[in-house]
Amino acid sequence: MPKLKVSGLKAYYFTDNGIIRGVDGVNFEISEGQSLGIVGESACGKSTLGAALMQSMQSPGRIVEGSITLEGDNITKMSSSEFDSRVRWKKIAMVFQGAMNALDPVYTVESQLREILAEHHYQGKIDDKISESLQQVGLDLSIAKRYPHELSGGMKQRVVIAMALLLNPDILIADEPTTALDMVVQSQIISLLKKLQKERGITIILITHDLALVSQITDKIGIMYAGQLVEFSTTKDIYKKPRHPYTQALIEAIPRLRTKDKKIHFVKGSPPSLLSPPLGCRFLDRCVHAMDVCKRDPPEFQTEAGYVRCWLYEGSTEGPQP
Ligand SMILES: Nc1ncnc2c1ncn2[C@@H]1O[C@H](COP(=O)(O)OP(=O)(O)OP(=O)(O)O)[C@@H](O)[C@H]1O
Ligand code: SF4
Ligand SMILES: [Mg+2]
Repeated sequence: MPKLKVSGLKAYYFTDNGIIRGVDGVNFEISEGQSLGIVGESACGKSTLGAALMQSMQSPGRIVEGSITLEGDNITKMSSSEFDSRVRWKKIAMVFQGAMNALDPVYTVESQLREILAEHHYQGKIDDKISESLQQVGLDLSIAKRYPHELSGGMKQRVVIAMALLLNPDILIADEPTTALDMVVQSQIISLLKKLQKERGITIILITHDLALVSQITDKIGIMYAGQLVEFSTTKDIYKKPRHPYTQALIEAIPRLRTKDKKIHFVKGSPPSLLSPPLGCRFLDRCVHAMDVCKRDPPEFQTEAGYVRCWLYEGSTEGPQP
């Protein structure tokens, strides 16, 4: 049984200007102990997908179709009180995008950790739990008495990770946890996530726009484009044999430090609006391989380790290589 299985998931925002199709038919599954990266450009629906998994979509958004099955239980069918008591923070926890800048400025780290434990009627020794959780994310215990403004960006990110881990979840969704941090701190946070994976067997779902970053810690990658996963496979497969033209363009865009090619390759053009996405392939306007058939919505063509949503792979697992 997969640890987490998402089928036909649609999560929309019902705004005054129309329906924004933030997540528009997403499918994937991961097994116990595997970690997943969700990668794509800004506004492609990454945070919406994370929030939908956590049943925390912001108004005016909601899940409109599909299922999210966690260890065999369809969590989209649970009432919010059942989800809160059985799943939220206990099985799935999330470090929301920008959470480190949303720490309450008037409370110390310790008070904020204490409050979460009290809210969840934590039964053990609260002081011990606070020390353990700070140590777990590599923070000195003296941090507990500090206010958020007395912490560096990296420390604040560790604090919000510690908060998310307080109730020992099996799955941690981390939405852009390294954005706005310098390269050194970024690699320290990635090392911390790796350590949590290794030592605690925690499943990480890392949401990022940075394909190079995600490859360091995830077993599987979903490439997201305009509300859909256009390619889903193992990390190794995505790197060795990127199939979707968008994945190929993203890989091309990674700066190659060890070669003479120092040119930055951008993916030309911009994604379609999620208010009225095209009926056919959503990458059509930017694709160098576009064909007549691409005016029709491509289905998911199975590949060795996943799928690709592109007509080039109809009846075949081969296609153009970068
Ligand atoms: N609360 C909201 N109300 C209305 N529309 C929203 C809301 N949150 C997100 N959206 C819209 O949903 C779409 C997907 O946004 P989302 O934040 O999921 O993208 P993202 O991939 O996480 O982007 P980024 O990389 O910039 O964080 C965008 O068009 C966005 O404007
Ligand atoms: S379906 Fe067509 S337009 Fe879309 S990515 Fe594939 S080749 Fe390009
Ligand atoms: Mg986001």
